[in-house]
Amino acid sequence: MRTTVQLGLALCVGLVACRPGDVAGTDAAPIMLAPGDPVWGLTGAQRNLFGRGRLVFNREFTPETGLGPLFNSTSCAECHEAPLAGGRGDEIEVHATAYDPAGDVCDDLAGQGGPVIQQQATPALQAALGITQEPFPPGAARAFRATPTVFGRGLLDAVPEAEILSRADPDDRDGDGISGRPNRTADGRVGRFGRKANFATLREFNAGAFLAEQGITNPEQPAEGTIGGAAIPPGVDPVADPEIDQATLDQADAFVRFLAAPSPLRGGDNERHGSDLFSQIGCAACHVPTLRTGPSPIAALSNKQFAAYSDLLLHDMGPDLADICLGLATPAEFRTEPLIALRFATHFLHDGRATTLDQALAQHGGEAAGARDRFKALSPADSAALIMFLKSL
Ligand code: HEC
Ligand code: HEC
Repeated sequence: MRTTVQLGLALCVGLVACRPGDVAGTDAAPIMLAPGDPVWGLTGAQRNLFGRGRLVFNREFTPETGLGPLFNSTSCAECHEAPLAGGRGDEIEVHATAYDPAGDVCDDLAGQGGPVIQQQATPALQAALGITQEPFPPGAARAFRATPTVFGRGLLDAVPEAEILSRADPDDRDGDGISGRPNRTADGRVGRFGRKANFATLREFNAGAFLAEQGITNPEQPAEGTIGGAAIPPGVDPVADPEIDQATLDQADAFVRFLAAPSPLRGGDNERHGSDLFSQIGCAACHVPTLRTGPSPIAALSNKQFAAYSDLLLHDMGPDLADICLGLATPAEFRTEPLIALRFATHFLHDGRATTLDQALAQHGGEAAGARDRFKALSPADSAALIMFLKSL
């Protein structure tokens, strides 16, 4: 799979852009995009940036090149790996915050090393402090986070705030039991990235990931984190900050941004019936099948319709899924997970607790309880069709 896709790419690199005919056979046929493909219509320069960015995404950092002193993994692709770079992964992270229900206030515990609690330490830090991971903030709530795919995230980034807000219904005025609301950053922007939608832009998430996941400082996250709130002991982090330069960060950002949402498989009657049921029983009320990007300086991302299966809003999913707060999101609220490239998933939900789609649906509670119950009430043939549809995404 990897070789085929990379070969396909290599053939296109150097041309101004790949024509639809290069991918799908005829210009009239819809463009079929495989996992790992860039969005269609990039310029030669953008494709070049995408290729360089993939190298940065795959790069294994070491303490000598800036890794740590605390980190979760050595490269982006070590986690985002299946079926290839940019996909899902089996790494489960540990996050921590503290929620005050009385005041509805969330503390991300930045002063104690939160919200991401790194699970690995470089040999130098281990020697200096005798720890192998970041200490967990005492009294904090703990959450586990499975590694999602980043396919199609550049498209999600280009969806206008107004399109997201148009679906918000915080007081459930239409009485359908579903009351999505946006998360917001401290400075008031609509959040959309992360499983609790607490990051407004892909750019900020990517720059933050270098620091939080690999301990790599960069021009947009120039300061090394703390060790549970305490300063890094002298001598354990000899590489000067920023540990990667602007060009390297821009390349990695371009790789993630230009990754396409892989085309759903062309299904037959069963999948079509499953897709109809998906709308009829109310899954599509949150997992909005198609979103549209706004105007973008990148023509390939500008005014594009794509299969997102998300409204990018927060929904209360009930007490069983609840864990930590983040920004405005209460412990029970999660962003509707986009169902992009769902067919490659082997575990589901924010902490990867479900190993089958049936389990994932059974865990839908809160605002999704109605849709869950309607799914349970389907005939065996109908529920099989719905599952087949999900496996075509
Ligand atoms: C240790 C594993 C790990 C590493 C390394 C890692 N990630 Fe992630 N990534 C995750 C997890 C887990 C999440 C979900 C986090 C959350 O929702 O709070 C995530 C989420 C993301 C998202 C948001 C996706 C969405 O749907 O909102 C982006 C973008 C992303 N990562 C990019 C990167 C980049 C770029 C790198 C390298 C600099 C990287 N990641 C390194 C595990 C990892
Ligand atoms: C009220 C909004 C809402 C409704 C209705 C809803 N979902 Fe979800 N769905 C979510 C949220 C939020 C998540 C993320 C939950 C988590 O990560 O714990 C999710 C997660 C999922 C996942 C797991 C995705 C992954 O990558 O792990 C699948 C599959 C899914 N939903 C399918 C469905 C289907 C099928 C239906 C209809 C029976 C449905 N959902 C109805 C909000 C909703």
